[in-house]
Amino acid sequence: MTAILSVAGLRKSYAGVHALDGVTFEVEGGSITGLIGPNGSGKSTAIDCISGFQRLDAGTVTLAGSDVTGRPAHRIARAGLMRTFQTVRVYDRLSLADNLAIAAQQFDPATWADEFLRTRRYRQAVEASERRARELVELIGLERYYGAEAGILSYGQKKLVALAAALMPHPKIVVLDEPVAGVNPSRIREIEVALQQLNEAGETFLIVEHNVEFITTLCHRVIVLEQGRKLTEGTAAEIHTDPRVLEAYLGMTPEMVEAEMRGAA
Ligand SMILES: Nc1ncnc2c1ncn2[C@@H]1O[C@H](COP(=O)(O)OP(=O)(O)O)[C@@H](O)[C@H]1O
Ligand SMILES: [Mg+2]
Repeated sequence: MTAILSVAGLRKSYAGVHALDGVTFEVEGGSITGLIGPNGSGKSTAIDCISGFQRLDAGTVTLAGSDVTGRPAHRIARAGLMRTFQTVRVYDRLSLADNLAIAAQQFDPATWADEFLRTRRYRQAVEASERRARELVELIGLERYYGAEAGILSYGQKKLVALAAALMPHPKIVVLDEPVAGVNPSRIREIEVALQQLNEAGETFLIVEHNVEFITTLCHRVIVLEQGRKLTEGTAAEIHTDPRVLEAYLGMTPEMVEAEMRGAA
């Protein structure tokens, strides 16, 4: 196994608050890796620093073997790390097809002159982009809406369109910030299935999420942050029964943890 993303010794302070205090972890290619932790543990700061939306005080970020530490967000995106945001960013008045075409254009090597002259390179880029869009829309289970305006979709479905848009340029990894926050509980399963399908098709994800059940169902590996440090990491099953995680993350007392462990045994 090889790491697509490895971060080492991440440090970031805000006016004396150690948001990240030396965080190190890796994401294997082809995996779904979860990043969890209580409120204020540093999850958002970690992904902001990794994706270039915040400046690190110290540490390194390596993407598929290349050092991308300190590069601006658009360059990290071009190097192959895309991210989605907690608030959805889709164009309601455009069809799913057009939303995805626009996402691809931002990374398209075709120049304005190519487009104007309708060169072969331009036509090939458009065809490749359409193939990719159709494939992704099928994997997220929204093929019946391909030509429909994105505005008619539910909030959870729009989150899937935003995810498909992030995948259009064939990134090496997508970082998702709370993919089921604010999503109707009856629709969470749709997002879970879509992520599983995309992962089976070869996509790699790092998911920051508050919903522990969602994370433990989906993730091959889970990293747990507490107060800007890595508390532990392991498989979903290991994390689920780790007394330190239950105490730190779920706010359980040692007695409650003991009762839980007896129940699980
Ligand atoms: N822009 C900021 N200015 C000051 N403090 C911040 C800022 N962003 C985050 N923090 C602090 O850094 C710590 C980690 O926050 P954050 O990364 O948002 O945690 P999480 O996403 O796990 O809830 C918290 O103590 C938070 O108050
Ligand atoms: Mg956060």
